[in-house]
Amino acid sequence: MRARKKKHGAERLAAVSDLFIESPELFTDKPTFLEIGCGKGKFIIENALKNPDINYIAVEKVSDVILLAAEKANSENLTNIKFMICDAKGLSEIFPAHSVDRIYLNFSDPWPKAGHYKRRLTYKAFLEVYRTILKDDGAIFFKTDNAGLFEFSLEQFKEDGWDLKNITYDLHNSEFAKDNIMTEYEKNFSEKGFNIHRLEAYVK
Ligand SMILES: C[S@@+](CC[C@H](N)C(=O)[O-])C[C@H]1O[C@@H](n2cnc3c(N)ncnc32)[C@H](O)[C@@H]1O
Repeated sequence: MRARKKKHGAERLAAVSDLFIESPELFTDKPTFLEIGCGKGKFIIENALKNPDINYIAVEKVSDVILLAAEKANSENLTNIKFMICDAKGLSEIFPAHSVDRIYLNFSDPWPKAGHYKRRLTYKAFLEVYRTILKDDGAIFFKTDNAGLFEFSLEQFKEDGWDLKNITYDLHNSEFAKDNIMTEYEKNFSEKGFNIHRLEAYVK
């Protein structure tokens, strides 16, 4: 996601600095769900509003984008969500092993050029990072409109030994539609007529 440099970005970040963390706040009495690449935060904020007993952490590498998400959470007075500016590849150095219950990857950048496949967030090197931080019964929930990225991801999960469940190539016309919370990209692409693909991948 490209973002213009936010005017007064530093001041605006300072105003919501309580919502930002550099290392995870984990609760033994609450599950921890991460979204990696949260963008402007629609999905994770609506989830946090709906599920006060889940501890959400939004991860995003672009500070000007996550700022918008944190400002939204602040205006909702949410206490069950925190924000981290970092790259997915470093998560296993930040999170304790087996501390996360679920990871959401929503509309990850497809990196369509063949030579860029290692940048895709479902490339096996990323899957190994996620496996390290997920609990033994943890899972990744993945959504995309991009058929090429979905096929690539299915292969990566299979090759890396994940247990795939609840796969659909048309989420909005599936049994999973009623509980689905849309992301910004999802709203945009589905309005343009793209089918949304979805899977769950469980650590074995
Ligand atoms: C296409 S946008 C999708 C945003 C949002 N999930 C949605 O569905 O509306 C992908 C987001 O992932 C972020 N991202 C890409 N690679 C990342 C990485 N390695 N670590 C953290 N965030 C990343 C980008 O900065 C961008 O905001």
